[in-house]
Order: sequence, then structure tokens, then C-alpha cells
Amino acid sequence: MSQETKPDYLINPEGLRLDGRRPDEMRPVEMKVGVLKQADGSASIRQGKTYIIAAVYGPRELHPRHLTLNDRAYLRVAYRMTTFSVPDRKRPAPSRREREISMVIANALSPAIFLEEFPKAVIDVYVTVIQADGGTRCAATNAASLALADAGIPMRSLVPSIAVGKAEGKLLVDLGDQEDKYGGGDIPLAILPENEEIVLLQQDGSFTREEIVEAIKMGINSCKYLHELQKDALKMAYSKKAPADDEDYEDDLEHVPGEDFPEEDE
Ligand code: CDP
Repeated sequence: MSQETKPDYLINPEGLRLDGRRPDEMRPVEMKVGVLKQADGSASIRQGKTYIIAAVYGPRELHPRHLTLNDRAYLRVAYRMTTFSVPDRKRPAPSRREREISMVIANALSPAIFLEEFPKAVIDVYVTVIQADGGTRCAATNAASLALADAGIPMRSLVPSIAVGKAEGKLLVDLGDQEDKYGGGDIPLAILPENEEIVLLQQDGSFTREEIVEAIKMGINSCKYLHELQKDALKMAYSKKAPADDEDYEDDLEHVPGEDFPEEDE
């Protein structure tokens, strides 16, 4: 069992958080597209210490057939945590929490996808949490929407997502695990960036009306920033040149440390 203890405070006298962030500052985010060979589409996200991989298969034939939807594709999301993703070993059997988060992610992604283009088919989204350090449902939504785009699924837009929480009376963007555990609650949300339609909104803990309005504003701002990072990750994956055509790559080869390349003649 882990020996984690409750920190004395979540916000220090200078107004900074446990990891030195300002209240409205997100953790460092790194998203990559096309990280798996076998999947039709895939993406990974590192958000602070949270690390998640999403894989998409389909559209493909749906089994079991009784789940078939005649007018659209069935978006089947499986959010799972690895046994080693949390300080206490996670039991391998899917928990109620994992089933709930799978449903929440599917509901957030559905409005972004032209599901009606694939009646009777299934689009499978597998989200695996390699390391959980708070905000996994939101990070999973970010990665899953990138993996869907990578699979070539027709979409209205990507779906950026972030949680805004509260600790010691202050609203905080993108809670880390300890802020989540010992803070006063959180509001995960996701949007379709083009019209700011909210496609995921949950609340854990108690917030005043004013706090909820402010938290949603902060969340939408962070989602817009995440949306830019998502687009960058897609561009990065699809603009990659073959190494042979890549001048930078060839330059890098010429500067391998310790290798003696003959000087070019003047
Ligand atoms: O991850 P997210 O904030 O979307 O969901 P949560 O149910 O509010 O869980 C918050 C955090 O608790 C997770 O991100 C994990 O870091 C942690 N957790 C854990 O330590 N053990 C679990 N079995 C489940 C969650």
C-alpha cells in the first residue's frame, strides 16, 4: 500500500500550487498521433504525470449484433486503467468507475462524429491509462478524439477537454492527483471548439453559481489552448517527411557526436 500523506496546503502563501503552477496554469501537455502500428488510428497524451494511449478500430462489423443501430454507427468506448497506473494496485476487472468514464467519454465524442455515415457499424475506441495522476477522463477524451481523426473518421471537430477544480476557495485549472483527492471538487468539461458547445460537463463537490460560471469560462479557455495543441499534433504526424527527403535529418546525421566526418573540400 502507498504511504501518501495529505499535504499541509494545496496553495502556498504566494498563491502557487503544489507543483508551482498558478491557479489558471495547465500542466505541461504533450500529444502524439499515430503511436501504434496495428490500430486504424492512435494517439498518446502526457498531461503532467498522467499518461494515456488511445487506439481506434473501425468502422467495422459490430459484434454482438443485437447492439446494432440501424441509423448510425455505435461508438463503443472502453476506458481502462492498467493495474500499475495508480499507487494502489488497480484490480484488473472493469470497475463501475471505468464503465461510467467510458460512457462519459462516448457521450462527449459522439456529437463530434458523423456517426450517421456508418449505420450498423461499430467504431471501437480503447483508452488505456498507463499512469494516472488526475484528470484522466479529460486527457482520455483529448487523446481519443485525436485517435479518431487519425483513423480518418469523419468529424465535425476535435474534442478538447479539461477539468477545473477548487481548493482552499480558489478555482484551479487541470487538477493534479493530490488536488483532486484533497481539494474541494472538480468540474470536468469538454467542448466542440468551433461553437463552444459543451459536450461534457460533470461536477464533483460543491460550487457556488458564480464559481461554476467562472470555472466553465476558465475551462473553455484551456480547451481552446488544448485544441491548438491537438491540431499541432495532427499536423506533426501528417507533415512528417520520409527521412531520405529530410534535410534536417541528413544534417543531424552529419553531426553525430564522436563521429569524424571528413571536412568538405573548399
Ligand atoms: O482521473 P479523473 O479525475 O478523470 O477521475 P476521478 O475518478 O476523479 O479520479 C481522480 C484521480 O484519482 C485519478 O486520475 C487517479 O489519479 C486517482 N485514482 C486512483 O488513485 N485510484 C483509482 N482506482 C482511481 C483513481
